[in-house]
Amino acid sequence: MMNEAEKRALEFAAQQGASYRCSGGSDTPHARATASDLRKLFDVGLPEEGRDADTVIEDLVRAAEPGLVGNVRPDFFAWVMGGSHPAGVAADWLTSAWGQNSAIYQCSPAAATAEEVAAKWLLDLMRLPQQCSVGFTTGATMASFIALAAARSEVLAQSGWDVEADGLQSAPAIKIFISEEAHSSVWSALRFLGFGRSNYVVIGSDDQGRMLIDELSSRVKEHEAPKIIVCQAGHINSGAFDDFQEIAKLAAKHGAWMHVDGAFGLWANAVPHLAHLCMGVELADSWAVDGHKWLQVPYDSGFAIVKNTDAHRRAMDITASYLNESEGDGRNPTHFVPELSRRARGFAVWAVIQVLGRQGVCEIVSRHCACAARLSKILADEPGIKILNDVCLNQIAFTVSSDMPAEDSEAITNEFLSEIGSDHGPFLRSAKWKGHTIVRVSVISPDTTMQHIEELARRILSAYRSVAYCTVRRISKQGPPSVPMRGLRLPT
Ligand SMILES: Cc1ncc(COP(=O)(O)O)c(C=O)c1O
Repeated sequence: MMNEAEKRALEFAAQQGASYRCSGGSDTPHARATASDLRKLFDVGLPEEGRDADTVIEDLVRAAEPGLVGNVRPDFFAWVMGGSHPAGVAADWLTSAWGQNSAIYQCSPAAATAEEVAAKWLLDLMRLPQQCSVGFTTGATMASFIALAAARSEVLAQSGWDVEADGLQSAPAIKIFISEEAHSSVWSALRFLGFGRSNYVVIGSDDQGRMLIDELSSRVKEHEAPKIIVCQAGHINSGAFDDFQEIAKLAAKHGAWMHVDGAFGLWANAVPHLAHLCMGVELADSWAVDGHKWLQVPYDSGFAIVKNTDAHRRAMDITASYLNESEGDGRNPTHFVPELSRRARGFAVWAVIQVLGRQGVCEIVSRHCACAARLSKILADEPGIKILNDVCLNQIAFTVSSDMPAEDSEAITNEFLSEIGSDHGPFLRSAKWKGHTIVRVSVISPDTTMQHIEELARRILSAYRSVAYCTVRRISKQGPPSVPMRGLRLPT
C-alpha cells in the first residue's frame, strides 16, 4: 500500500502537470537554465537513505522547470515534434499508475487489447491495408528498424536463405536502394541490422530531396541480389514525398521490398485533400510512423507497420516456456517489437485517437499545412529571404544568406536565430541542406494557429531586417565584400 507521502506525490504531480498545461507550458519556448545550472540543480548528491516521495517530486519540479523546452507551446517551430495531447498525458499517467507490462497478453490483457484496437484504427486513419501488423515502438527510428528486420528476413527467405536459422554471416548480400536524402535515423536502423556502406546503392535526389526515379530504375536493374528500397513520406526539411507509385512498380518488377519512412508525412494520407501527396504509398511492404509527432501522443510512440505479418513475426520472434500463451488469449504485443518488458503504449494512443477522432486528426494536419503555406507566402515577398522548398506540407526551409560564403552564412543565420528567439521569442533552428545554411520551420505544435503564424512572420521579418541592416553597415565600414551580398538588403 502507498504511504501518505507517496499519495501526496501523485496528487502534487497531477496538479503540477495540469497547471503547467493550463498555463500553456513554460513562459518561454526556450530552456532558461544552462547545462551547468541544471547540473547543480539535479546533482544534489546520492542519498544514503531514501527520502519522502512528495518532497522528492517537489524537488524534481524545481530542478526540471528551468530546463524544460516549450514544445507544447504554439510558438515552438524548431523540430518536427509533437505537443503531448493532454488526453494522452492522462492515459500515460494511468499507464504508469497501473504499472502494466505490455509484454505478452497474459501480463496485461487490457494493454494488449488497447494496442490491438488502436492498431486497427491507425491503419484505418492512415488508409493502409487492414491486414498489416503493427508494432508499438519508441518512435520512427525503432519502427524502421523493425520493418527493415522483417524486410531482411523476407528478401533473404525469397533467395532461399533462412536468416533466423543461419544468421547473417554467410547470407547472400542484400542491396539497399536508398536516397542520399534519407533521414539519418534510417541509416542508423540499417546499421543496427548489420548493413554498411558497401550494401547501399545511394540514389540521387532532386531539389526537394525526392529520390530520382530514373536513377533508381537504372540502378535497380544492375543487381541480382535480394533488394530493399527505402523511400520517404515527408522529407525532414522540405516535407517532400517520393513518387511511391513509380517506386512500387519498380519494386514489384524487381522483387524488392519497399519500405516507407513516413515519420510525420504519412499522416497526410489521413487528410482527403492532402492524400494525393501519398499516392501509391499503400503499395509499399512496410511503413514507419510516429505517434508522438502529428498524432500528438506523448513520447515515446511510434508504429512499425508491416504487410507481411509472417515476416514481421519471424523477425521479432521471442519465445520461452514461461511466456505462456493459452487458447483464447488476445494479441501478443511482443510478437511485433524487439522488447519483452515494455511500457503499455497502446493506452495513450487509444485515448488520443478517441479524443481527436478522424476529423480532429485531419483538422490538425490541414491547419498546420495551411499555416506553413501562409508563412511561406509572406516570407517569399521579402527581398533577401529565399524559400528553398515547395511548401506542400508543414515544413518551410528558407535561407537569409543565399549568396554568402559558408562561414558568413552560418554566422548570419545564427545571429538571425538569436534575434528571433530574444525576449522569449519563437523557437526556430537551423540545418545544412543542399549547400545552404537553412532556417527550418516545422508547424506541428497542436495549438499553433494562423494568429501564431502572423506573429512568427512579423518576428522573422523584423529579425531579418535588423540583422541585414547591421551586417550591411558592418561590411560597408570594412570596405566592399569579396562576395556580392545580394542576399542582404537594407530595409527601406
Ligand atoms: C522523416 C523522419 N524519419 C525518422 C525520424 C526519427 O523518428 P524518431 O525520432 O521518432 O525515432 C524523424 C524524426 O524527426 C523524421 O523526421
